Amino acid sequence: GWSMADFVERAVSALRRRLDGARALCALSGGVDSAVAAALVHRAIGSRLVAVFVDTGLLREGEVEEVRSTFSGLGMDLRVVDARDRFLDALAGLVDPEAKRKAVGETFIRVFEEQARRLAAELGPIPYLVQGTTYPDVIESGGGAAATIKSHHNVGGLPPDLDFELVEPLRDLFKDEVREVGRRLGLPTALIERHPFPGPGLAIRTLGAVTPERLRRLRACDRIVREEIRRAGLEGSVWQAFAVLTGARTVGVMGDRRTYGEAVAVRVVASDDGMTADWVRLPHEVLDRIARRLVNEVEGVNRVVYDITSKPPATIEWE
Ligand code: XMP
Repeated sequence: GWSMADFVERAVSALRRRLDGARALCALSGGVDSAVAAALVHRAIGSRLVAVFVDTGLLREGEVEEVRSTFSGLGMDLRVVDARDRFLDALAGLVDPEAKRKAVGETFIRVFEEQARRLAAELGPIPYLVQGTTYPDVIESGGGAAATIKSHHNVGGLPPDLDFELVEPLRDLFKDEVREVGRRLGLPTALIERHPFPGPGLAIRTLGAVTPERLRRLRACDRIVREEIRRAGLEGSVWQAFAVLTGARTVGVMGDRRTYGEAVAVRVVASDDGMTADWVRLPHEVLDRIARRLVNEVEGVNRVVYDITSKPPATIEWE
């Protein structure tokens, strides 16, 4: 029968034949698909694979260090590109969700292309680009309404301006199969069981203007929400759990002083594939802990609301 052990063996030898002596490039997103694709190709061609990870400044706390230690630990040639200022510049003055998505997507492509050119100058020709395209991606890109609701930016979905030949070793696999391959390749459980995270990152969870200060605030909120979901043992059973900076300012009182701070929304959803989702009936104690910690620990936050809409009619992300 068909097993993932066979898959890994066959994929590795097919990749060795196809990439015979040539170099390949891949973009890591921090997510599962690009990580497994990279690990598989690395198993096949070793140091002829170069991995690029773009630090957009729109990532969650600890993410850059996590990616660095995981992939450097695997012995991969990993280049982390600090492009935080470029993304902030591109987002300056933007509040419209689609405008933000477009700015992040375009900046990503530009940064990645520059890096690819630099690497080709350093190492010689790199004819192949590895992408973590999976079977559901293949089906989805065949049409459907999703793309018209939000312009999705996938780190794997670069329209390569440079003439790369695409290598998509996960094209026939479903998500759980991709995870199984990742486990067989020795990727850490934390990475394999990671919740989805949108390409435009924290930019589309910071409603209104994206500034370094608001990103710091959201990053702190996000860490608390994830910590409490993990502490409650719910990480494995929810699809996503995150905070949204709503941009709404509200009046509060702390000690005997009036505050005028920002309302943070907490979004925790269950889903099979992200196409539909239900809000999670979190235990009240968990909600209570999250709310107290957000207000006490994060400067500028004085109110917490829980998002109780499902998808449809709401989407999972707020933008
Ligand atoms: P929505 O908000 O459309 O999200 O209900 C459905 C799922 O997709 C994720 N998402 C994205 N993923 N690039 C991505 O790679 C994107 O631009 C993007 N926008 C949303 C979202 O987190 C949820 O899991």
